[in-house]
Amino acid sequence: MPNPSILILPGDGIGPEVMTEVRKIISWFGDKRGLQFDVSEDLVGGAAYDKHGKPLADETMAKAQEADAVLLGAVGGPAYDDLDFSVKPERGLLRLRKEMDLYSNLRPAQCFDALADFSSLKKDIVAGLDIMIVRELTSGVYFGEPRGIFEEGNERVGINTQRYTESEIERAARSAFELAMRRGKKVCSMEKANVMESGILWREVVTRVSADYPEVELSHMYADNGAMQLVRAPKQFDVILTDNLFGDILSDCAAMLTGSLGMLPSASLGAPMENGRPKALYEPVHGSAPDIAGQGKANPIACILSFAMALRYSFDQGSEADRLEAAVEKVLADGVRTADLLGEDGVEPVSTSQMGDAVLAALD
Ligand code: NAI
Ligand code: MG
Repeated sequence: MPNPSILILPGDGIGPEVMTEVRKIISWFGDKRGLQFDVSEDLVGGAAYDKHGKPLADETMAKAQEADAVLLGAVGGPAYDDLDFSVKPERGLLRLRKEMDLYSNLRPAQCFDALADFSSLKKDIVAGLDIMIVRELTSGVYFGEPRGIFEEGNERVGINTQRYTESEIERAARSAFELAMRRGKKVCSMEKANVMESGILWREVVTRVSADYPEVELSHMYADNGAMQLVRAPKQFDVILTDNLFGDILSDCAAMLTGSLGMLPSASLGAPMENGRPKALYEPVHGSAPDIAGQGKANPIACILSFAMALRYSFDQGSEADRLEAAVEKVLADGVRTADLLGEDGVEPVSTSQMGDAVLAALD
């Protein structure tokens, strides 16, 4: 059996800086835990545009299709802001998601005890929080036809279409139920079945799929109530399943319950490949942070935790993922902080590489 393969796409801005730390972690798992990966690296975003004139070369796309997991840093930055829409750095990322057909976007919102004071909510509401939002990523109103701005009489009309097929709902739902089986065995599905037909179908299909997962407790909630419940009592949830539009908003909302953007990982999963592993792209939620790029200030934890998700969801190494997450938890409990995790209490921040080294030391 060949080693599982990882394609690293560091991208732009702080992407390469945080990815350097992840490479150290990947090597640690090879050296100390016998988990060998075939790691290769390529360009995406502005870095790819500089070399190829487009934000994702066809060869890179082909490598991503073959890889057991793709790890991406971040794309974009002011140097590329004036580029034509068709070659903008973000298009590279969108092409990856679309051509790999990554329909299930996993966004954990987890509150590390040491950072509970960071939340905009009261500490006891978020301490110990561990929820997972599953957002359908490849359909819905961002893709539905007809769309556009049209003339209608003597004014214009802007149109987007919320559209979901049963199979699109079903595959997203299965991914949420499978996840719930490995977690707290609860799924809360959010739509607006009270005012949208697509929501009625969503609820019907999710309910049907749930019959295959009798151990999982399913509930339904209107998405607007879901937003209220997320800030009122977020710990009532385990897995939240929702569509592309509501998921975009609800996942950002949930993310901020836990503090810094520098802490948030994500996974985007597609259908299983021949070897049984899902097509998969792992990336931090944050962008290229041009304001701090090149200064060694970036927090690498979001990217490190994205690799932990890869261990869990692509490589079936749940206990190794736990090990890595526990190391991060320990480093935070020890008071190690990058600048984005500091309040006003005068603690000296550590650099990107010092944070990576601290995680390595905690792993040891
Ligand atoms: P951003 O996430 O890059 O930065 C927002 C703020 O959070 C900045 O103040 C930044 O310094 C801080 N921040 C972000 N990540 C951090 C980290 N790991 N450690 C410490 N501080 C961190 O979002 P922004 O400023 O809206 O976008 C900057 C560029 O990134 C744009 O070109 C945008 O298009 C791109 N972008 C790319 C994304 C991706 O690659 N998935 C996602 C979001 C934005
Ligand atoms: Mg968003």
